[in-house]
Amino acid sequence: MKENFYTETTESPENDFDISLRPQDLEQFCGQRKVKERLALMVEAASNRGDVLSHILLSGPPGLGKTTLAHIIAAATGNHLHCTSGPQIEKAGDLAGILTNLKRGDVLFIDEIHRLHPAIEEYLYPAMEDYRLDIIIDQGPNARTIELSLPRFTLVGATTRAGMLTSPLRSRFTMTNRLDYYSAEELTHIVTRSAELLVTEIEPGGALEIASRARGTPRVANSLLRWVRDYAQVKANGIITATVADQALAMIDIDDDGLDEMDKRILESVIYKFDGGPVGLSSLAVATGEDASTIEEVYEPYLIMQGMLARTPRGRVAMKKAYLKIGATPPKDTQSAEIELDLGNSTDG
Ligand SMILES: Nc1ncnc2c1ncn2[C@@H]1O[C@H](COP(=O)(O)OP(=O)(O)OP(=O)(O)O)[C@@H](O)[C@H]1O
Ligand SMILES: [Mg+2]
Repeated sequence: MKENFYTETTESPENDFDISLRPQDLEQFCGQRKVKERLALMVEAASNRGDVLSHILLSGPPGLGKTTLAHIIAAATGNHLHCTSGPQIEKAGDLAGILTNLKRGDVLFIDEIHRLHPAIEEYLYPAMEDYRLDIIIDQGPNARTIELSLPRFTLVGATTRAGMLTSPLRSRFTMTNRLDYYSAEELTHIVTRSAELLVTEIEPGGALEIASRARGTPRVANSLLRWVRDYAQVKANGIITATVADQALAMIDIDDDGLDEMDKRILESVIYKFDGGPVGLSSLAVATGEDASTIEEVYEPYLIMQGMLARTPRGRVAMKKAYLKIGATPPKDTQSAEIELDLGNSTDG
């Protein structure tokens, strides 16, 4: 088995910075009130019964706190957290190695669980349901199945693409939690807390400025804060005011709505190169020079939430707001965001 199974390897390079700012318990975890309430209740119920927490699925766009919650869940139950991710588990033996190393009550975190190999997924079903693993050893006439019984454990799965999970896998989670983008108010709270941890002086206006340009995402808020802190240190007296934050963010081309260069390039491509759409994801990827799955998972959800882009059965379409954003004149028949968003659930290739 590979050495890195029990270490976190799925995080961004911003790791150290992220980890030091990572909330340690539900109280420090800001926002997502409903999710927190449910998790707190599950943890309390399980602990009162002396039972093991049941399996939990966390879904939502990158940087909203899925990994953080997995850490918090393990800490709340007082058990070990084992981290791995879908693409890291290549063979059934890898999974067997991980599962047989668990102790009763341990939390196994599988990040990007939608990328689990289908064959591995099959092995996971009995493990989740009956805490049992059927391993086939040898091949041909000598093939035998051995049944391993596993300690009761909690699987916490995280995915940015809940829709890509197979239904047998999804149905084996007792609870599915979808994380939503954070409000500017919640992000202001997070920025203020992070600044405190970084021993940086920040005025409420400065925190709000960063928060409202952070795409509803704590990870983005924290990295903007890091940049603004550097800027304040060099260009101002180290104190982050609203003006300093505004200047710092303008310098890295983050606009008032939190859109960056790539967001704008996506909007411009849809509008200028594809006449406002509909355009398929793969064409858009080629036109912008960005990876299709990054567009789909990172950029698009925020643009859709902002009412600038819509997904229709025939592809991506630019909304009126997108034209206004990039300073183009919307064609007369541009539909309003509400109409398109009704159709907006389907994905295309
Ligand atoms: N609710 C929160 N309160 C405070 N900080 C948060 C919160 N959620 C996330 N963060 C911060 O944002 C960072 C990113 O969160 P996390 O790594 O948990 O995101 P993720 O959902 O796992 O993202 P990915 O899908 O990319 O793995 C964390 O390190 C933490 O500092
Ligand atoms: Mg994560």
